[in-house]
Amino acid sequence: MKRDFLSVLDFTTDEILESFDIARKMKANRREFADALKGQALALIFEKPSLRTRTTFDIGIQQLGGYSLYLSPAEISLGKRESIHDVAKNLERMVQGIMIRTFGHEIVLGMAHHAKVPIINGLTDYSHPCQAMADFLTIQEVKGKFDGLKLTYVGDGNNVAHSLMDAGARLGVNVTIACPKGYEPNLIAYQDAVEAAKKTGAKIEVEHDPIKAVKGADAVYTDVWASMGQEAETEARKKIFMPYQVNENLMSHAKDDAMFMHCLPAHRGDEVTSGVIDAPNSVVFQEAENRLHAQKAVMYKLMKDID
Ligand code: CP
Ligand code: NVA
Repeated sequence: MKRDFLSVLDFTTDEILESFDIARKMKANRREFADALKGQALALIFEKPSLRTRTTFDIGIQQLGGYSLYLSPAEISLGKRESIHDVAKNLERMVQGIMIRTFGHEIVLGMAHHAKVPIINGLTDYSHPCQAMADFLTIQEVKGKFDGLKLTYVGDGNNVAHSLMDAGARLGVNVTIACPKGYEPNLIAYQDAVEAAKKTGAKIEVEHDPIKAVKGADAVYTDVWASMGQEAETEARKKIFMPYQVNENLMSHAKDDAMFMHCLPAHRGDEVTSGVIDAPNSVVFQEAENRLHAQKAVMYKLMKDID
């Protein structure tokens, strides 16, 4: 039975922790797993730009002995040039896994439904689970534990925020989303995380006061104010989100040893100041590197038994 990775919630707590164990081994010695996915092909479908996701999946599958095929936004036009069903039915005969970065979440759900091979969500408008896996691997590396930690995400209640809530829920990390009124996380995403959190006792909260939200935070996280596809709103959002900028003053209200996190790309001077992103407690490039290791573990779990 093939497995997909469309949401962090597709993995149980134990599966996430096991993935992190594998990821840490892969990070310690990239050669040890050189044949783990020997001959397995991964299609990379991109309908939005990328630096980290493209590089880490491309290099990651090769480090595991497989190979990748990059399909650019101009090439497939999922659902326009060809139906999602037909794209899935073609590609499943050619590759052993498909990573997709696209707009509508229903596109990855449709691909997962139709394709016999695993589908990995490389970001939709709704969620970014691979990012959250790398982020929580990073938190584990820095803090050495999850239990009782608090992560405060400051900014838009977007795809990244949704996946962070899911990961916190699974791993017992309290997650507070601090956002302007009208930019809260999607209600279903919030409810799904709250439901999942019942097993671990994690608190998932939404708060509109950023200073109150970062009190007691072990990690302060932010993301761009206008996501890919929302470029037309950039200027309007700057005015609304400026009170949510993660700057030295806001960080001073978090714990003294709070780490600063960002999925990148960052817009310095908007959602984060250079002083914060370049400070010693900023782990943004460690998160970026961990995309590679976390995703290698996910690919390994999903693709090792695909013929
Ligand atoms: N964080 C992240 O997904 O980066 P890219 O958009 O560059 O892939
Ligand atoms: N929220 C951002 C994340 C980029 C990695 C976006 O969707 O553009």
